[in-house]
Amino acid sequence: MGLGGGIAAYKTLELIRRLREAGASIIPVATEAALQFVTGVTLQALSGTPLRNALFAPLEADGMDHIRLAREADLVIVAPATADLLARMAQGQADDLLTALLLARRGPVLVAPAMNPAMWEHPATRRNVTTLQEDGIHFIGPEPGAMACGESGTGRMAEPATIQESARRILTPKILAGRRLLITAGPTREELDPVRFISNHSSGKMGWELTLAALRAGAQVELIHGPVTLPPPMGALLHPVTSACQMLDATLNAWLGTANGPRCDAAILTAAVADYRPEQRQHDKIKKTDATSAPHLTLTQNPDILAMLSAWSGVRPRDGRPRVIVGFAAETGDALARGHAKRIRKGCDLLAINDVTAPGCGFGTDTNGVTLIGRDGREEVWPLQSKERVAERLIAAVAELVSHPRSL
Ligand code: C5P
Repeated sequence: MGLGGGIAAYKTLELIRRLREAGASIIPVATEAALQFVTGVTLQALSGTPLRNALFAPLEADGMDHIRLAREADLVIVAPATADLLARMAQGQADDLLTALLLARRGPVLVAPAMNPAMWEHPATRRNVTTLQEDGIHFIGPEPGAMACGESGTGRMAEPATIQESARRILTPKILAGRRLLITAGPTREELDPVRFISNHSSGKMGWELTLAALRAGAQVELIHGPVTLPPPMGALLHPVTSACQMLDATLNAWLGTANGPRCDAAILTAAVADYRPEQRQHDKIKKTDATSAPHLTLTQNPDILAMLSAWSGVRPRDGRPRVIVGFAAETGDALARGHAKRIRKGCDLLAINDVTAPGCGFGTDTNGVTLIGRDGREEVWPLQSKERVAERLIAAVAELVSHPRSL
């Protein structure tokens, strides 16, 4: 973790804490200017590793810290990267430990710039950024907003969570490179009148984790989602919808594509689509008439998006590659028997069943236990684990299916 001398260095402390929590080990390397903003003691305490900041440190036995650090790290992050640091990197200068190790570096480098907007927009910085991008350096941010100097514009360092996600994407093997996925997530809302609706407890978390896992694996993702409160996953193409009928339109559009052929290689439908909607949505708010009677609701069935998509699956006409459809089923009680019947009825390639009454499974939780059922009726049980891990495994299974259709 290389730190340049900018006020955003305080956010790098949070980044170090988050990365360590996620299991990374961090070696902090600070420029002299960085130590005007954060102390070596703080960096050492948070990273659990002594600070490196001298090119010629007497304590280093071989004096080759810059070479060793450049080689050993899986990823070098520079946060904050000041205008001066970017200029020195672009020039290939090596006049302190951080720039020397960056010059000796062969593996990936992620840079999170932070500076005054005028400095960011200056032609000299533009040139340096272009040079570094051409050299293969990854950039994240800067973002627009208020600056510490009182001005506003583009120059704020990306948030620690954003830099962390960016680091994960760089480090994840690209098993879905060049593939496009369609994912549905969250609940749908079926309106009764302008103020009321029928919906369910779906949080959208499973679909969100799948979207993130697919993006990390190099896929492009179209995320069609009902009303949720989750932050948009960076880099996904979002299609927010409200009702099941709107979700059907958006999903078929993405699946069928254009005259040039279908856009998506695989679809994972995690949305908890409402099975029924009011036959008629009232134009005005339904009034309470008297104290004793209640209105009767007449419901009608919503389209089954998964079943319709499966009916339209088959190969991509453009390149003859098979397309893969995965469904999710929230069940209670006799989950497995129902799951087999449902997979056949819906015609999908894989069905992930979860018993929403089991502890730690289902709506709003961060964990899930699923049983996968394939076309050949084979079952695979994945015990309770984080939704993030379930997503990672399911994305690996989908990557396998789109490349080797016989494993269906
Ligand atoms: O029938 P059930 O709701 O249990 O099926 C669950 C699976 O079917 C999920 O993948 C869900 O996204 C999908 N589904 C759908 N359209 C519906 C109902 C469910 O696509 N109307």
